[in-house]
Amino acid sequence: MEVIIRPDKDAAELLVARMIAKELRANPHLVLGLATGRTMERVYGHLVRLHRDEKLDFSLCSTFNLDEYVGLRGDDRHSYRHYMNHQLFNQVNIDVRNTHLPDGMAKNLDAECMNYESLIRKFGGIDLQLLGVGKAGHIGFNEPLSALRSRTRVKALTPTTLEQNAGLFGDLDKIPRRAITMGVGTILDARRCILLATGESKAEIIAKSVEGPITSMISATALQLHKKCSVVVDEEAAGKLQASDYYRWIFQNEPEWEEFR
Ligand code: GLP
Repeated sequence: MEVIIRPDKDAAELLVARMIAKELRANPHLVLGLATGRTMERVYGHLVRLHRDEKLDFSLCSTFNLDEYVGLRGDDRHSYRHYMNHQLFNQVNIDVRNTHLPDGMAKNLDAECMNYESLIRKFGGIDLQLLGVGKAGHIGFNEPLSALRSRTRVKALTPTTLEQNAGLFGDLDKIPRRAITMGVGTILDARRCILLATGESKAEIIAKSVEGPITSMISATALQLHKKCSVVVDEEAAGKLQASDYYRWIFQNEPEWEEFR
């Protein structure tokens, strides 16, 4: 795992967009794992701008989102399908048939989860998985005690998550109580992971996720087991890290990061 601390939210979001753009330019057939949430909005904004201004080409790439609420149709404005269409897919030249999210309206949810896993395999696995983190440490919707080897499945959302996401629904009663989410094991299978967290409210969970013990109580800690995971944070989200000077030194000295400094 490596931690990259950027001076502010803008710089952190831009860095993540540039990292994705670099991978997409190197491999136009990239299989991208995508995340939702407020943190990602500006990342997608930057990707749209790179598409418009620098002709970043999405025509051959395909995407798999981490999760979707159970019981919401794709055209419901609270669904993650709607979020993705609005934030990214409708604004770039991606073939919408190559964009995938679990179907939260599927009659047989367990079969839908298995199909999602098979589809990821059929596309050759995820090359680059983008991740946010919930305040209690979930990646995707892998709530506390999610098995570290879990696969795509239905999860009940915890009260903390419901509260955290209530703002987007306007009313706590309207949020679905369950979601389909890639498992921790599914996420760990991605060839590369990039986790982005910004703002003071994420400082504590970032410190626990990066420097704390691996525990299924905090699914983000499982990323310590991943072969190639970058955690990108702004100064505020980095506020509680113990070894931040070391992380800064690495970023300044590793040749890999030269073009991003
Ligand atoms: C939801 C999503 C997660 C996301 C998290 C953080 O729970 N399922 O994938 O990382 O929210 O959201 P935000 O970026 O709004 O803090």
